[in-house]
Amino acid sequence: MKKLYGVIGCPIHHSLSPLMHNDAFQQLGIDAHYHAFHVEKEDLQEAIKGLKALGISGVNVTIPHKTAVIPFLDEIDEMATRIGAVNTIVNENGRLIGYNTDGPGFVRSLVEETKTDIRGKRILLIGAGGAARGIYFALAHAQAERIDICNRTKSNAEWLIESSDVSIASAAYSLEEAEERLAEYEIVVNTTSVGLYPDVEAMPLSLNNMRENTIATDIIYNPLETKWLKEARRKGAIVQNGVGMFVYQGALAFEKWTGIFPDVERMRQIVVQQLGGK
Ligand code: ATR
Repeated sequence: MKKLYGVIGCPIHHSLSPLMHNDAFQQLGIDAHYHAFHVEKEDLQEAIKGLKALGISGVNVTIPHKTAVIPFLDEIDEMATRIGAVNTIVNENGRLIGYNTDGPGFVRSLVEETKTDIRGKRILLIGAGGAARGIYFALAHAQAERIDICNRTKSNAEWLIESSDVSIASAAYSLEEAEERLAEYEIVVNTTSVGLYPDVEAMPLSLNNMRENTIATDIIYNPLETKWLKEARRKGAIVQNGVGMFVYQGALAFEKWTGIFPDVERMRQIVVQQLGGK
């Protein structure tokens, strides 16, 4: 029987996940379909019960449900528990198991696309929200030397560090403090939505003090190259946009569902084409 997968979120109609996963199923000859489900906050618990009742094999979970979904699952994997967010559910014979492939997807894309080794690197994260938390854990797991966090509201960066049970050197900074210290970092990551369409003129951090050959990576993929990334490129940085994180979080979810790691290059092409790139 055809297996059914999907993504639950709100809003969900712009999601590129169905296109990406359905192509991978077809490519690999897997008899399955992936559907986007619009689920309102107040309907989340019913929707999760519905997954079980209908025998849906797995789903991705996106905004605004990544944390709220946790109490409704039967088991949460360790990384997802520590991050406090689930973006992938696997239905194992009626037991719903939650995983987080966002942070690991980010790290995997960073390593593959920039050919860098995270071990021993000094990293600055911009932003202290949900995306930053996942990336912080995954980078710490990949044995970075230190991960500092700067944020518009410095206390939120302090809280992220304090509340994370991670043994890595970390300091919290205001945006201004981080701008001063920028030359200390080998990798700088924008985890905020600053620069996201339609507010494309906004920049999360000034790059005046950035050293050449720093890796600058932005989790935003619409636009494909944010103003901040363009600026980083002009200053001699190695730049990476958010397509990689999106594709790898999807590929890792696909692997959890099927046991097969899909063709990420093909997934990337599909996503970039949809976003109007080449
Ligand atoms: P997500 O879960 O997608 O990471 P979030 O939890 O709303 O989203 O986090 C957004 C992050 O972007 C926060 O670090 C936020 O800073 P504050 O903690 O000060 O709110 C940051 N952010 C959002 N809009 C911003 C802006 N215009 N300028 C600077 N930082 C911004």
